[in-house]
Amino acid sequence: MRKPLIAGNWKMYTTLMDAVELASEIRRLTEQLRDVEIAVFPPFPFLVPVAAKLAGSRIGLGAQDCYVADKGAFTGAVSAPMLRSVGCRYILCGHSERRSVFGDSDATVAAKVRRTVDSGMTAVLCVGETAQERRSGQTSVVVGSQVKLGLAQVSAEEIRSNVVIAYEPVWAIGTGDTATPAMAQDVHAFIRETLAGLGTDTLASEMRILYGGSVKPDNVDGLMSCPDIDGALVGGASLEVKSFVRIAKFE
Ligand code: 13P
Repeated sequence: MRKPLIAGNWKMYTTLMDAVELASEIRRLTEQLRDVEIAVFPPFPFLVPVAAKLAGSRIGLGAQDCYVADKGAFTGAVSAPMLRSVGCRYILCGHSERRSVFGDSDATVAAKVRRTVDSGMTAVLCVGETAQERRSGQTSVVVGSQVKLGLAQVSAEEIRSNVVIAYEPVWAIGTGDTATPAMAQDVHAFIRETLAGLGTDTLASEMRILYGGSVKPDNVDGLMSCPDIDGALVGGASLEVKSFVRIAKFE
């Protein structure tokens, strides 16, 4: 049985005060939830204070990115072992904003997945097509290749135990234009088939595939009712306690 994962990607939002308050409120209002796993991905400077607020809770802490080396003269970069040392359990690898704004290639993403797994954390590998790619019928080609190339440096066993996939169509991110449950389900089923091709059928059936892109309280239930959607990676709506908690209480 795949336990659903509802994750909040705070992107480059919140101040220290906002972040700490958001974390405490999420903790307070989700304490009773047993059948869902929750994780938050605050900006780097707020990881430590948020970790302190979440200490002893079941909420997972994650980072939005990491660098491809563990240490060295890389001014401004943050490594996977550093993130592990402050209590992170997850790292987002290859979010579409990292790919498009910061130029992360599939090879870079694969190296970040490798570093994350090596450091004892779970990599959340993000994949998704642009509007143009969808219009031209390229969705499966693009998503299939991002999945395969992103996982190129990890073994089937590591994928099963230390990777979560997040399907985030680029055209749905921050636009309010979410994929319909049927559209998302199609791609999720395709991703699961792609995963089956990388290892055993057990691998594919055990792995969690999250949907991301304008997930809101009013569309989460439809998305979560799809057989291959195992959770959500939420941007905007994760910054508002009420919305995020309602999403975590999907029906
Ligand atoms: P929105 O929920 O704001 O569309 O963002 C999705 C996302 O990019 C999560 O990683």
